[in-house]
Amino acid sequence: MADDALVIFMPAGRRGRFPLGTPLLQAARSLGVDIDSVCGGRGICGRCQVSLAEGEFAKHGIVSLSANLSALGEVEERYARRKPLAAGRRLSCSTLILGDVVIDVPEESQVHRQVVRKAVEAVTIELDAAVRLHYVEVREPDMHAPASDLRRLMEALECEWGLAGLACDLDIVQSLQAALRQGEWKVTVAVHDESTIIAVWPGFHEKAYGVAVDVGSTTIAAHLCDLSSGEVVASVGRMNPQIRFGEDLMSRVSYIMMNPGSEGELTAAVRGAINELAAEAAAAAGITAADILDASFVGNPVMHHLLLGINPVELGGAPFALATDSATTLRARDLGLALHPGARAFILPCVAGHVGADTAGVILAERPDTSDKLTVLVDVGTNAEIVLGNRDRLLACSSPTGPAFEGAQISCGQRAAPGAVERVRIDRESLEPRFKVIGCALWSDEPGFAAATQRTGITGICGSGIIEALAEMFLAGIIRRDGTIDGALAARNPRIHADGPTFAYTLHAGAVTLRITQNDVRAIQLAKAALQAGIRLLMDRMGVAEVERIRLAGAFGSHIDVKYATVLGMLPDCDLAEVSSAGNAAGTGARIALLDRRARRTIESLVRRVEKVETAVEPKFQAHFVEAMAIPHRTAPYPHLARVVDLPAAEPAGETRGRGGRRARLRAGERG
Ligand code: FES
Repeated sequence: MADDALVIFMPAGRRGRFPLGTPLLQAARSLGVDIDSVCGGRGICGRCQVSLAEGEFAKHGIVSLSANLSALGEVEERYARRKPLAAGRRLSCSTLILGDVVIDVPEESQVHRQVVRKAVEAVTIELDAAVRLHYVEVREPDMHAPASDLRRLMEALECEWGLAGLACDLDIVQSLQAALRQGEWKVTVAVHDESTIIAVWPGFHEKAYGVAVDVGSTTIAAHLCDLSSGEVVASVGRMNPQIRFGEDLMSRVSYIMMNPGSEGELTAAVRGAINELAAEAAAAAGITAADILDASFVGNPVMHHLLLGINPVELGGAPFALATDSATTLRARDLGLALHPGARAFILPCVAGHVGADTAGVILAERPDTSDKLTVLVDVGTNAEIVLGNRDRLLACSSPTGPAFEGAQISCGQRAAPGAVERVRIDRESLEPRFKVIGCALWSDEPGFAAATQRTGITGICGSGIIEALAEMFLAGIIRRDGTIDGALAARNPRIHADGPTFAYTLHAGAVTLRITQNDVRAIQLAKAALQAGIRLLMDRMGVAEVERIRLAGAFGSHIDVKYATVLGMLPDCDLAEVSSAGNAAGTGARIALLDRRARRTIESLVRRVEKVETAVEPKFQAHFVEAMAIPHRTAPYPHLARVVDLPAAEPAGETRGRGGRRARLRAGERG
């Protein structure tokens, strides 16, 4: 009988011969098979589970039998008494090879497993958390071989886990002796980035969580993740309390300018909100904030600076100098965060004065640098951050769209909430509208609509609703290419009526009358012209006349219908099948940085590669802005769009040039 056996690990397909009696985990390690472990093979953590693939594997010339593995032993039985082992599962550290076997390593036992992502998200996350737990048994002190507790802990970490030359926070040293004695020389250690001990617990400890935070100027969202599985265990959000210092970013910067020293209040407000969110997420997941060992952050440049406690006034005017654009790793408590005392925080790098760590998050989530397709990434907020590029080159700029896309500056605009119109259709002949409101699945001309909307009412139009309303008005001929509401149509339908010197269109008459005025159209035109001008500026710089793919990030991108956004000329022409929502890409970027430490290095180097284009000082921005005031655009053709939508025939864009040009100068002047 042979004194060794063939072992094949699936799905990697790695194979090797091992002496009988070798533990499966040891065999796997020697073949470089990726199997997780916190306890170092002591049968405590349960991370190393595998199962036997039973049967004849003719291709490999072996018969894999359960008899070829050692029977369930004392260690596995002890583990199973604490946490039941699923049928067929074995602890690979405690199972010995007795003959030829094929072993399945399930996804959840792999260290570098892939984290399940949503369909809208572009790349998969490969788990490689910066903070990892290691259980060790430390040699007891011995007068004949004197060595400090820390030195013996380091020895154990090097010997069992190959972690050499670690640094150690002072407060860990302060608590080390008690932890070692309480744990009877067995402790679990959290190591950050394979370089620093950040936590020690007596005995075995398996809770390691991280929080990915998207610090928006309006809302802050936090995703609590299990660092061992990558799973999101709780997601929470709340309004940014800085709103009391100013609705938008620039008014908050102005507040600080007018009240020297007040930046501390804004910093405290955002940090306080993050602490509350962390505690809320922890409670929802049944842990405490002290179980959170790592955190990652994205945010626009002003939020980035305020989170770090840096006065953002330099970002309030040209030349928009950032205090730092590097990625930052520091102790979470240095940010005033009440997580585990040793927890670390990673803040993604900023791209430029107007293009922040939120855009870095979008780039990390979307990785345009890995694609051949020339891709536009757009994150629409009060400013639109735009990235254009592919594997050869990346460009970025920010364009001052203003808050019109969020429903602000629109006479009947409101935020997306029950009762807000979100979908609009207008009959091309009768010019009669029908619409849908948030909270009701029925169209307004369907039976039961009035009853179904009685509770919420019909209260306003949200951002996606206004895009559709205007695009449908354009397609129905109510709005001309230059953006004027055509008063001649008042004779056809009284919904079009005089409104001072201009005309308006009544979408709905009721308790709240929803009327789209000429000023509303102008506000959206200005915003969409700024957005498209920013994209065109980057296309010029890239030397291309069209793009192959468009991804819309953020809540706005998730709700708008890309067809209508293109009809209105927010975006350049593109095959509509290639225009899609990227979901909350900035938040996804934060999550990737939290779960994959290699991604931290990737984004740091990618951001340095991005060529920054400053719209405020680019003379061509003005020209693009004027051209983009027309719907969808004064000169650029829309052949892809024309294939799916009956676009009105071209007509001269009379008024566009004058008004758009003046406003373009004004708006660019605001920043320059
Ligand atoms: Fe921890 Fe096997 S390695 S139980």
